[in-house]
Amino acid sequence: MSVMPGSAAARDVDSLLHPYTNLTLVHDQGPDIIERAEGIHVWDDRGKKFIEGLAGLWCTSLGYGNEELAQTAFEQMKKLSYSHLFQGKSHEPGIMLAEKIKAMVPMEASKVFFGCSGSDANDTQIKLMWYYNNAIGRPRKKKIISRIKAYHGISLAATSLTGLPQMHAHFDAPLNDRFLHTDVPYYYRFAEPGESEEEFSTRLADNLEKMILAEDPDTIAAFIAEPVMGAGGVLVPPAGYFEKIQAVLSKYDVMFIVDEVITGLGRTGNPFGSQTFNIKPDTMSLAKAITSAYQPLSAVVIPEKIYTAIVAASEDVGNFAHGYTFSGHPVAAAVGVKALEIYERDKIFEKAAALSPRFQQCLQTFAEHPLVGNVRGVGMIGACELVASKSTKAAFDPAAKVGAYCLKRCQENGLIIRALGDIMAFCPPLIVSDDEVGEIFDIFGRSLDETLDWVTREGLLNT
Ligand SMILES: Cc1ncc(COP(=O)(O)O)c(C=O)c1O
Repeated sequence: MSVMPGSAAARDVDSLLHPYTNLTLVHDQGPDIIERAEGIHVWDDRGKKFIEGLAGLWCTSLGYGNEELAQTAFEQMKKLSYSHLFQGKSHEPGIMLAEKIKAMVPMEASKVFFGCSGSDANDTQIKLMWYYNNAIGRPRKKKIISRIKAYHGISLAATSLTGLPQMHAHFDAPLNDRFLHTDVPYYYRFAEPGESEEEFSTRLADNLEKMILAEDPDTIAAFIAEPVMGAGGVLVPPAGYFEKIQAVLSKYDVMFIVDEVITGLGRTGNPFGSQTFNIKPDTMSLAKAITSAYQPLSAVVIPEKIYTAIVAASEDVGNFAHGYTFSGHPVAAAVGVKALEIYERDKIFEKAAALSPRFQQCLQTFAEHPLVGNVRGVGMIGACELVASKSTKAAFDPAAKVGAYCLKRCQENGLIIRALGDIMAFCPPLIVSDDEVGEIFDIFGRSLDETLDWVTREGLLNT
């Protein structure tokens, strides 16, 4: 171990099991300890300053150190630090947040159910689909179709929706045969030669239909999708994709659960990704930016027909027996209400939408870079996919860890982003300024050139 005995890093290695971490690496090299933050910047425990180019984990949309949000939490803690929503109890922050979310979402919204994370929101979605279909006398209609490379969280059931092999290995996931995975809309990698985006979308919708028919439509409850796939590689849907998918879902009475955990609240140039991609959600999952990550909070939005069925069925058992101690926690809810007020009052979504052409243009400048095979993005989210050969699209050997090297160069140069394998992802706080967007991509450009030097020295290019 190369960490100094007695240091915070050594104490970390002694005591913490890190989520989503290369455990061997952190054991040997110690963690990066972040100490404080302001605006779009964070500082580590050695005083080094970074731009947070991924908004933490795609979530800190209003940036750091927001006095109003901190004050709201403080005031709420003094007034009512905790009260639950079980057994018909309620509180004003929970009611206000539910009202606000209902009024914002682009769907027929009847009720809002609160949780603490995107994963638990998607667990709730699964349980509601099962409860609903039992309630209306369709006990066989229980399977949920997700997509290869989807990310819907890592709680036991949400892991089964997630379509990334790393998250299944050793965890015995998926849980059972109620979880299916259809094609990923990854045009750059999986379109056939000469296939247009529309044709690719048609093929994927046809494959979805074949899957539904092969399984029997009476067994398929729902389809779940992120408008833009985040952790799977920042995959922006090809032209016509969601329209064609939705036509298939309607044909077989399959509900569409839209996972807006990343795309919700201004990320894609509209308040919701559903608006950007012409999606008509039946139900919606939200988390991350509701509180701008000042508090953990998630929300599931359901339509009247699900609500009515739940009410009737729950009478059998005398209770709708689902919920968490912290469902609608008053401090989280109050912070959520304030964050939504700030988004509206300060026109955060509109400003982000106005800045997004500049953000996307900056990204596009890397399309010609010798290491970059594909550049993609929408609104204030995007990615550069690094490849060993631009002409053949050959990927680097994962063992070479080119993305991890590039990430390290970015960090050395003062920029935190995310490497999804060799896909470099960008998702800055929505409050980022024009100049800061320029700075992000200047640093990235420098880091990418340094990566190219290293890749060339190591003979990893495949030209
Ligand atoms: C689209 C999507 N859904 C669900 C989740 C899970 O959220 P959480 O990590 O809060 O459980 C994430 C997390 O990144 C996500 O990106």
